Amino acid sequence: MILVTGGAGYIGSHTCVELLNAGFDVTVFDNFYNSNPEALVRVEQITGRKPELIQGDCRDRAAVVAALKQSQANAVIHFAGLKAVGESVEQPLSYYDNNVVGTLRLLEAMQECGVKTLVFSSSATVYGDPVQLPLTESHPLAPTNPYGRSKWMVEEMLRDLYRSDNTFRISILRYFNPVGAHDSGLIGEDPQGIPNNLMPFVAQVAVKRREILNVWGNDYPTPDGTGVRDYIHVVDLALGHLKALEALRNPQVNKFPECLTVNLGTGRGYSVLDVVRAYEQVSGRPVPYRIAPRRPGDIASCYADPKRALELLSWQAKLGLDAMCASSWHWQSINPKGYQS
Ligand code: NAD
Ligand code: WQD
Repeated sequence: MILVTGGAGYIGSHTCVELLNAGFDVTVFDNFYNSNPEALVRVEQITGRKPELIQGDCRDRAAVVAALKQSQANAVIHFAGLKAVGESVEQPLSYYDNNVVGTLRLLEAMQECGVKTLVFSSSATVYGDPVQLPLTESHPLAPTNPYGRSKWMVEEMLRDLYRSDNTFRISILRYFNPVGAHDSGLIGEDPQGIPNNLMPFVAQVAVKRREILNVWGNDYPTPDGTGVRDYIHVVDLALGHLKALEALRNPQVNKFPECLTVNLGTGRGYSVLDVVRAYEQVSGRPVPYRIAPRRPGDIASCYADPKRALELLSWQAKLGLDAMCASSWHWQSINPKGYQS
C-alpha cells in the first residue's frame, strides 16, 4: 500500500492513476487546500479502482500516524505542499510551514511507524540561476525564492536523515516543468484564479476564458528571445515515480551514499513561442499574445540533463510537446472550468 500525500492534486492524481493501473493499492492523504475530491472520483473512473481517501493535513503528526497505521502503507509518495513562487515571496511563512514543517511531521510519523520508503517531489527550482546547462544533479543548489528554499531545506533534511539511518529508502525527484493531462481528458491541471504557469494560461486563452497571453520578455539570450524551459508530460512524470519506487526496492540502493536524487525532465528546451505555436496547431484555435516586460525572477533557459534518470531509474520521457499540448487541450476543452465544469 502506498500513501500518496497531495494525491488529489495535479501531479498526485496522475500518479495515482499509474499506481492503480500497475496494481498498487493507494491511499490518498490530502487536505484539499488546492484540489477537488472530484479528481479522485475521476481517478476511479479511469482505472476502475478506488483509491482510499483520508482527509488530513501533513502538519498534523498524529493524523499522519493514524493514516499510516490505518492504510498499512509501506511507502509514501509526498506531493503535498504549496507551489506558487510569487505567493511564496508574499507569504514565506506559509511555505516554510506547509512544505518544511509538513514534511518534518510526515518524517517523524514515518519513523514512528517504521515506514522508511519515501519518494519526494522536489523541483528544478532548487538549482536557481543555471551556471551551466543542461542541469545535472551535481549543479550547485542556490534557489532564489522562498518556495525553492523550502524544497532545498527539505532536501537537506532528507539527506541528513538518510546519513543518520541508511535503512531509509529515499528518492528526491527534481521535476522540470510538468504540463499536459491524462489522455482520457478526465483529470488535468485545475489552477485556482489566474494561472501563473504558461501552459494552463495558454489553455485558457485557447478556450476563450482569457483574452490574451502576456509573453514575459522577448529579449532573453535564446533563439527567439523568449524563455526556454524543459516541459515534461505529467503522465511521463507520474511514471517516473513508479520507477523510483522500483529502484528503491532494489537492494543495490543500499550502496548509494546519498538519497536517490534525479532530474525528471526531457532534456529538451522549448521557448514560450514554441509552446504557443504548438498549442495553436493541435487545438486549431488562435492563441493571441503580446510581448510584455520580463517577469521578475525569471531566468532565460532551464533544461535537464536526464541521463541519470535513465541510468538509475531506467526512466526516460517519451511524450513530446505536441502530445503535451494535445492532452492539455483535450482536458481544457472538455472541462473549460476545470473540475467545476
Ligand atoms: P497541487 O497543488 O495540484 O497538489 C498539491 C496537493 O497537496 C493538493 O491536493 C493540496 O490540496 C495538497 N496539500 C497542500 N498542502 C497540504 C498539507 N499541508 N497537507 C495535506 N495536503 C496538502 O500541486 P502539484 O502541481 O500537483 O505539485 C505536487 C508537488 O510537486 C508539490 O510538492 C510541488 O511543489 C511539486 N512540484 C510541482 C511542480 C509544478 O510545476 N506543478 C514542479 C516541481 C515540483
Ligand atoms: C514558463 C515560461 C515565463 C506565464 C515555475 C516555477 C518552478 C516550477 C514550474 C514548481 C517562462 C513564460 C509564463 C505567462 C509567459 N514549479 N510565461 N507568460 O517559471 O519556468 O517555473 O513552474 O516547482 O518552480 O518557478 O514556469 O510556466 O511559469 O513559465 O510568458 O503568462 O513561460 O516567463 O519563460 P517557470 P512558468
